Amino acid sequence: MPDLKSMIITDKVPRHIAIIMDGNGRWAKQKGMPRVLGHRNGVKSVREVTEGAGEIGVEYLTLYAFSTENWNRPAMEIKALMGLLVDTIKSEISSLNKNNVRLMTIGDIQALPPDSYQALLDGIETTKNNTGLTLVLALNYSAKWEILRAARALAEQSASGKLRPEDIDEKVFEGALSTNGIPDPELLIRTSGETRISNFLLWQIAYTELYFTPVFWPDFDKKELFQAVVSYQRRERRFGMISEQI
Ligand code: IPE
Ligand code: IPE
Ligand code: MG
Repeated sequence: MPDLKSMIITDKVPRHIAIIMDGNGRWAKQKGMPRVLGHRNGVKSVREVTEGAGEIGVEYLTLYAFSTENWNRPAMEIKALMGLLVDTIKSEISSLNKNNVRLMTIGDIQALPPDSYQALLDGIETTKNNTGLTLVLALNYSAKWEILRAARALAEQSASGKLRPEDIDEKVFEGALSTNGIPDPELLIRTSGETRISNFLLWQIAYTELYFTPVFWPDFDKKELFQAVVSYQRRERRFGMISEQI
């Protein structure tokens, strides 16, 4: 087996990797287990990938953990997911802190159950001065929600005379998104064989390289992450130009 990590070109590592962690339910079903156990087993993949990303020098890792559409799931599953979120943050925070990881979130976290919200705030506060990997959890997030919120904020500033409409350019618009200050992801990974975006970072992935793998999230490990990075590094990012110009 090739040593995937040594195949990674260190000065071409993506600064930002985003992941749609999908397939927990099918992973469990395949094993005759309840869906919730799939989610529980997905936590170790989060740990692995966070570690792996740190090892190769990724600066930002954004994980899609709960979408606004996920509120449409059975109440029992939502409850289990929220419980898992609190437990995981509480149990992982000291090791995240030890590893110099800074926790952030995007999405409407105030609308989460109060204990989930509080656990997140505590985690963010505890790790806020860390200078290693920034782990961004997308929670109660959807890209359309985020874009509408930005549009509304800019419209308000404009209506109150603080911002001229003609001054709204890409930079100003990006400043109103929840990813303000975070570079766009160079690489987006989706597990479980689905090949859709499901309302994840729409603005930010305008030029992102997409990587789809059939592996279910609970089976996604460091090796799978390194494989995705190797695949990314073999691509030619042309940004509208032609090969000879690169
Ligand atoms: C991803 O796994 C986790 C969340 C969306 C919270 P799923 O729960 O979507 O698993 P599948 O797609 O049903 O297999
Ligand atoms: C996307 O997965 C959301 C997260 C991974 C949190 P879903 O499993 O909810 O997506 P769809 O509904 O299959 O598109
Ligand atoms: Mg799914």
